[in-house]
Amino acid sequence: MTQHFQPISAFKKEPYKKILCFPKAKETEVEKRLKELKKLGITHVSFTGPLQIEKCRILGKGYVGMVVLAKNNSGVYALKIRRVDSPRKNMTNEAKLLKAANKLDIGPKFVKNSKNFLIMEYIEGEKIIDWAKKPETKSQEIRSVLNNVLRECYLLDDAGLDHGELSTIDKHVIVSKNRNTIIDFESSSLDRKPSNVTGASQAILIGTGLAKIIQKKVKLPTKKTIIDLIRQYKKNPTLENFEKITIGLKLQSPGRFEEQVSLLRSDKKLQPLIRRIGPCSMRITKNPFQTLVEAIIYQQLSEASASAITKRFLKLYGKFPTPKQVYNTTDKKLKDIGISGTKINYIKGLAKLVLKKEIDFRKISKLSDEQVIEELTKIKGIGNWTAQIYLMFCLQRTDILPVGDLGIQKGIRDMFSLKELPSPITLEKYAARWKPNRSIACWYIWKSQRINSIG
Ligand SMILES: Nc1ncnc2c1ncn2[C@@H]1O[C@H](COP(=O)(O)OP(=O)(O)O)[C@@H](O)[C@H]1O
Ligand SMILES: [Mg+2]
Repeated sequence: MTQHFQPISAFKKEPYKKILCFPKAKETEVEKRLKELKKLGITHVSFTGPLQIEKCRILGKGYVGMVVLAKNNSGVYALKIRRVDSPRKNMTNEAKLLKAANKLDIGPKFVKNSKNFLIMEYIEGEKIIDWAKKPETKSQEIRSVLNNVLRECYLLDDAGLDHGELSTIDKHVIVSKNRNTIIDFESSSLDRKPSNVTGASQAILIGTGLAKIIQKKVKLPTKKTIIDLIRQYKKNPTLENFEKITIGLKLQSPGRFEEQVSLLRSDKKLQPLIRRIGPCSMRITKNPFQTLVEAIIYQQLSEASASAITKRFLKLYGKFPTPKQVYNTTDKKLKDIGISGTKINYIKGLAKLVLKKEIDFRKISKLSDEQVIEELTKIKGIGNWTAQIYLMFCLQRTDILPVGDLGIQKGIRDMFSLKELPSPITLEKYAARWKPNRSIACWYIWKSQRINSIG
């Protein structure tokens, strides 16, 4: 989206005037609101976005507000402008409720508000209904997004905050690349009995519109089963009954490492992540050769590019190849799907060792964590990180800490508000609190960085 910013004085002219004072602009009101905007520190506005109102484009429109992209001296934000004909007299209550949601790490981050304006984080993405409709949106992604949305609903229920508009959920969830966001706390309340999970699940699964689209793409249990699960939760809104919904609807698989997770749940830093993500759905790869090849592909790459390459690699063979198949593949073919020359050498070297039975994976699986690392790092292309990934995802060792992993470094930096990325020693110190379950802690940290993706 191009963001062409203009000084807010643009609001004095037609047709922008009408956005500032929708649906009808009176001169005195325009002047008053411009002053109010200046006081809030907003300097520029950009008329871009998916919605066209007369001759201008904006981010969105509702009963209360017009939402535009705006700028102050610290960055770009979404600015919600109270409609002149809005039933709400000011933005105070919405600000209060958005702040309450933010405490649970839900909703666009609140920045500032005044009588007629609310400045918040700009959420780039698509409305859930538009996203779900797209042919390229896969059923697995839909499951993952629904799982997240319902989980946020559960957190809101648990905190006593009723969103109030989740029956029109198609308009109130924005799906972005790595997460999804519930928006618009305008009709929310802390004084009603919350019905976020029940309202949202009915709208998503049983109603019209979004539900119809979802039913076409995702295989769901019968209506009766769904209604029974929702009823059970409604009667007794516990975490356990909530998980019965998500598992019953196959939005997620039953959790692994439950014992470890329940121990980690008492850790202050991890608790919010676990609450948000839910049970641990770590994907275990039983095939040692596959784990190592995938780990080599992932070395030094972002999640997105590595997973794209892995998918193309699989496509070359139909299913995960044997060492022999890999060994017999031309370098060109591997290069064409995006694997670097160095990595091709590593992968083929590994295939050769396995073919010649020079690695005994069974024997390795019986060694201690340290010994496994020692053995595996003898192989060309396998460093500490790759060996640690092997320990976690193939051997299911539960206390591995990949100190060289950029995602974990960033995660720890943010979690403990460090100024820079921690060195291996510093990282080790911070992560000590999760012993002897550091693999599981790391999985939650990774997962929190790409909450919409699978595995
Ligand atoms: N933080 C945001 N980032 C991006 N777009 C937003 C944001 N908040 C709202 N929008 C867009 O503006 C529309 C109207 O906002 P909403 O808060 O629902 O207003 P109302 O309270 O009037 O219903 C939304 O449907 C969405 O498309
Ligand atoms: Mg709305």
